[in-house]
Amino acid sequence: MATTTRITLARTPDGPVGEANFATEEVDLPPLADGEFLVAVRWLSIDPTIRGWMAYDTYLPKIAEGDVIRSLGAGEVVESRNEKYPVGTRVSGVTGWQTAAVLTSAFRIPDGVPYEQALSVFGMTGLTAFVGIEDIGRVQPGDTVVVSGAAGAVGSIAGQLAKARGCHVVGIAGSAEKCRWVTEDLGFDACIDYRADDVARALRRECPQGVDVYFDNVGGEILNTVLGQIRDRARVVMCGAISGYDSADLPPGPANLVNVIPRRATVQGFIVLDHYDRAGAAIATMAPLLADGQLVSQVFIVDGLAAAPEALAGLFTGANTGKTLVRL
Ligand SMILES: NC(=O)c1ccc[n+]([C@@H]2O[C@H](COP(=O)([O-])OP(=O)(O)OC[C@H]3O[C@@H](n4cnc5c(N)ncnc54)[C@H](OP(=O)(O)O)[C@@H]3O)[C@@H](O)[C@H]2O)c1
Repeated sequence: MATTTRITLARTPDGPVGEANFATEEVDLPPLADGEFLVAVRWLSIDPTIRGWMAYDTYLPKIAEGDVIRSLGAGEVVESRNEKYPVGTRVSGVTGWQTAAVLTSAFRIPDGVPYEQALSVFGMTGLTAFVGIEDIGRVQPGDTVVVSGAAGAVGSIAGQLAKARGCHVVGIAGSAEKCRWVTEDLGFDACIDYRADDVARALRRECPQGVDVYFDNVGGEILNTVLGQIRDRARVVMCGAISGYDSADLPPGPANLVNVIPRRATVQGFIVLDHYDRAGAAIATMAPLLADGQLVSQVFIVDGLAAAPEALAGLFTGANTGKTLVRL
């Protein structure tokens, strides 16, 4: 009989997420039913949205206490009663934080694509960056594009895609080291260290004509500051608001939102789940950029299922550079 070791939600968080919110258990898995297949999970995708799923109903229902932590992951089919997913198929899907997952559907990972890329640049993360830049931000060559969370998974790709489209790209990130990586290795034109710099003053220096597209990953005070410096017809891409995810209270609304009116700006949120029809276009755009070195896809790897809670908490302290993955 197959078994799985899994991490469950022990206690719904009402403040910074930590070890006390999780429990580990080993359970026997029932025999597969028709249509099911068993995946030996090799990698987990650690995403800020997991923190939201642990606490509230959002675009998906809240994870119930006692249930496995919901998460994307990837691995290999080791037993199957579904002819579309024979033994040996490599897949990515909603595996949860566990060593073995029973699924009924998943994405097939194409031959030659490593698991790390399937869960980052060629997965949900890369698609989020692509849709945010192309479809929501509608960037044009020559636009001034500001990206917060610039050294993170989505932000690092979003900024590079804007750069490849001929934009002037300014990142915002949480340390001098991250800013150096963003400019020197990723090719952003500038990067503002929001922990050390006066962001408003630095933005006026780096974006003297104002901001055409703001790709927001963080919300809060940084969103408010950028809203104060948008240009006419600006597009504000509401991708995420991580500065508020790990606390019990919502931050105050941005006072500069009113600037959207005289600037005739568009503020649009989106959820990547609605945009999987764009996955082919995203891969067709990013694969050649990756192959010729114009696109850097960085992964931040932590080892072992037991490290998943700490890896999640690390997203809120800025421990990661690039896409956080757990290798099982
Ligand atoms: N709309 C969608 O469908 C969708 C899909 C995927 C992701 N997202 C969102 O996109 C954002 C980025 O996700 P990701 O997976 O790429 O994570 P990530 O950027 O790799 O990791 C989170 C980063 O956020 C920064 N951060 C944490 N707390 C912050 C704060 N208080 N103020 C400013 N920055 C803070 C940290 O970097 P620093 O060291 O720079 O602070 C940290 O490294 C998240 O808000 C996520 O929810 C949305």
